[in-house]
Amino acid sequence: MVELKGPEKRRYVADLFSRISRRYDLMNTLMTFGMDRRWRKTAARQAMEGLEGPVLDVATGTGDLALALGRVVGVTEVVGMDLLNPMVSRAISKVARAPGPAPVTFMVGDALSLPFPDDSFACVTSAFSLRNLPDLEAALREMVRVTRPGGRVLSLETMPVDKGMSRPLVRFHFRRIVPLLGALITFDRAAYTYLPQSVDRFLSPAGLADLFRAVGLETVQHQSLALGAVHIHWGTKAP
Ligand SMILES: C[S@@+](CC[C@H](N)C(=O)[O-])C[C@H]1O[C@@H](n2cnc3c(N)ncnc32)[C@H](O)[C@@H]1O
Repeated sequence: MVELKGPEKRRYVADLFSRISRRYDLMNTLMTFGMDRRWRKTAARQAMEGLEGPVLDVATGTGDLALALGRVVGVTEVVGMDLLNPMVSRAISKVARAPGPAPVTFMVGDALSLPFPDDSFACVTSAFSLRNLPDLEAALREMVRVTRPGGRVLSLETMPVDKGMSRPLVRFHFRRIVPLLGALITFDRAAYTYLPQSVDRFLSPAGLADLFRAVGLETVQHQSLALGAVHIHWGTKAP
């Protein structure tokens, strides 16, 4: 796949996630050996540490991070927003089955133009989505805009492993196992070939931390998970 940007990438990504929405959750469980649940739980707790108030989960997909956030102390309300109806419909059906302590609602919307006033949320999150957005910096600026001063922006994301002993193992998993699983489970090898390509083309953990600072976040930190293939980044909007 040639590297796409802007409206072309938006169309490509929308078409891809519409195609795989039905088997999206099953593929996540299989290709992460069920660990994605734990990563989301860790991210949700980190997102709200020391904070209280409403949370926005951008590009929420089938809503798993939004639902995990709904179970965290201090969260008063969660809004999960995604570009695509098929993903949002799946998220809505999950809330009905597993209501949490905080109300969780889902809506369709574009990460590049969040339909909320400035300073609306105590925390704004995004999981496995920044890689897929047509303009990463613009999306992060939007996330910061709708975060309250003193609030937090958090990303949970798959990233390239550039060095270390885990590199060959992680690369083999992404480049061989994931496309094969995708072909078997979703009959869509192309979608799960895009995934490792999008990871390879994404920023390094240090690069994303720099971008967090460039869009105005302070005290930026990150935590590495899954042999360095998954990272949680968070930063605070200046009070
Ligand atoms: C890999 S999925 C991640 C979904 C979910 N956050 C998760 O943790 O499983 C990427 C999601 O980004 C959404 N997406 C892509 N471009 C978007 C945009 N411009 N605005 C909002 N959502 C977008 C897709 O529809 C898809 O649901």
